[in-house]
Amino acid sequence: MSPEEFRKYGHQLVDLIADYRTHVAERPVMARTQPGDIKAQLPASPPGQGEPFADILADLESIVIPGLSHWQHPQFFGYFPSNGLLSSVLGDYASTGLGVLGLAWQSSPALTEVEEVVVGWMREMVGLSPAWNGVIQDTASTSSLIALICARERATNYSLVRQGLQGEAQPLVVYVSAHSHSSVDKAALLAGFGREHVRLVAHDEAFAMRPAALEAAIRDDIAQGRRPCAVVATTGTTTTTAVDPIGTIADIARAHGLWVHVDAAMAGSAMILPECRWMWDGIEGADSIVLNPHKWLGVAFDASLYYVRDSEHLVRVMSTNPSYLQTAADGRVKNYRDWGIPLGRRFRALKLWFLIREQGVQKLQERLRRDMANAQWLAEQVRATPGWRVLAPVTLQTVCVRHEPEGLDDAALDRHTTAWAARINASGEAYVTPATLNGRWMVRVSIGAEATERHHVEALWRTLRAAVA
Ligand SMILES: Cc1ncc(COP(=O)(O)O)c(C=O)c1O
Repeated sequence: MSPEEFRKYGHQLVDLIADYRTHVAERPVMARTQPGDIKAQLPASPPGQGEPFADILADLESIVIPGLSHWQHPQFFGYFPSNGLLSSVLGDYASTGLGVLGLAWQSSPALTEVEEVVVGWMREMVGLSPAWNGVIQDTASTSSLIALICARERATNYSLVRQGLQGEAQPLVVYVSAHSHSSVDKAALLAGFGREHVRLVAHDEAFAMRPAALEAAIRDDIAQGRRPCAVVATTGTTTTTAVDPIGTIADIARAHGLWVHVDAAMAGSAMILPECRWMWDGIEGADSIVLNPHKWLGVAFDASLYYVRDSEHLVRVMSTNPSYLQTAADGRVKNYRDWGIPLGRRFRALKLWFLIREQGVQKLQERLRRDMANAQWLAEQVRATPGWRVLAPVTLQTVCVRHEPEGLDDAALDRHTTAWAARINASGEAYVTPATLNGRWMVRVSIGAEATERHHVEALWRTLRAAVA
């Protein structure tokens, strides 16, 4: 494709996306696609000869888009908000279109320096002290894996340069809660701790980790000859947005030499609101934090921020220095390849840079406040309606609800819940996510798509009541 053809089709693609965003509310929220439907419309083998680009765009419209569930739809209340605000989408285009890679500062100096600037902006926006240094990773899963590898290497005085974990006399233990995200469990397993050394610490009735249970578990492991290594606390758990008490957890961890990693993947965006920062009180006592601006903040997927207090340790664990990557500037610059796993890095910072500049901090704050107020409104309606229950504190923008008609036993109630959630999703009117809480099914309403206003939440409340009727 020549630059002139790119100009022509690029404009068409931008028009297509702009039209899609303008009219997305007219589509059923959840894809009505059956497994295999999309594949059946595509040839099994690649074309031998190039095809006209217009045909590719036509298939995007007629085959691909109908096979999507629409995350930017105002009635999308599933999973978590993942707003790709359009200024950030343009940042993503720019990144891809410029086609540069960050292997070293020298391989694209602006790629590194814009990243340094935006991670500094974000640090300030979420109220962290200058003691933190940040880097952009792809996802929270990667950030948490890096955190647990760094915890492991601090506890073993860099076992990776010797026999790795296989040379350690004592098994290392990681502490998480049952409400930690599955990516934390995965990170612990991939970092080599082993299933037997991942402790599920008990939580309280608000689904937050109990510090006393953490302390008891640590003491028990020490008494059994094991080595406590790291605790992962969550600010804003996936199911209910519960907040673990970071300050107390960090105090206990410090007394026993544990690494504290804070997973604020979703809730981290809310830390741009000073009134929400109580949720991670004590955060300065942690060793590492992950937050995903690609969730609620509005950065187009993917961009995960990973902050650490000791960046020298991170670099010592992650660095590689083959001769072909060494440059004369190395002593004076950041080489972000040494701050994570991949060597080649995208120019993800542009998405944040475009978004923060185009919106300004105030507008971002206003949108998040709107979403939290909408969640409180919905929770009030649910609480005030007989037969309905709000099942967890509404800390942010997620409301966990259940309709509980009289006379149903647990199994029948579960069937009722999953059936009405499925009816809503199949109707295309809204998209909600059923999940289990304390072993019983309930429905999460996660508010926060950019397009979702109060009247959309009012419509959802009507849809919920109609679905159980
Ligand atoms: C609390 C929490 N941590 C981690 C993740 C995983 O995020 P990612 O998809 O960026 O790996 C999620 C995603 O829902 C989450 O809610």
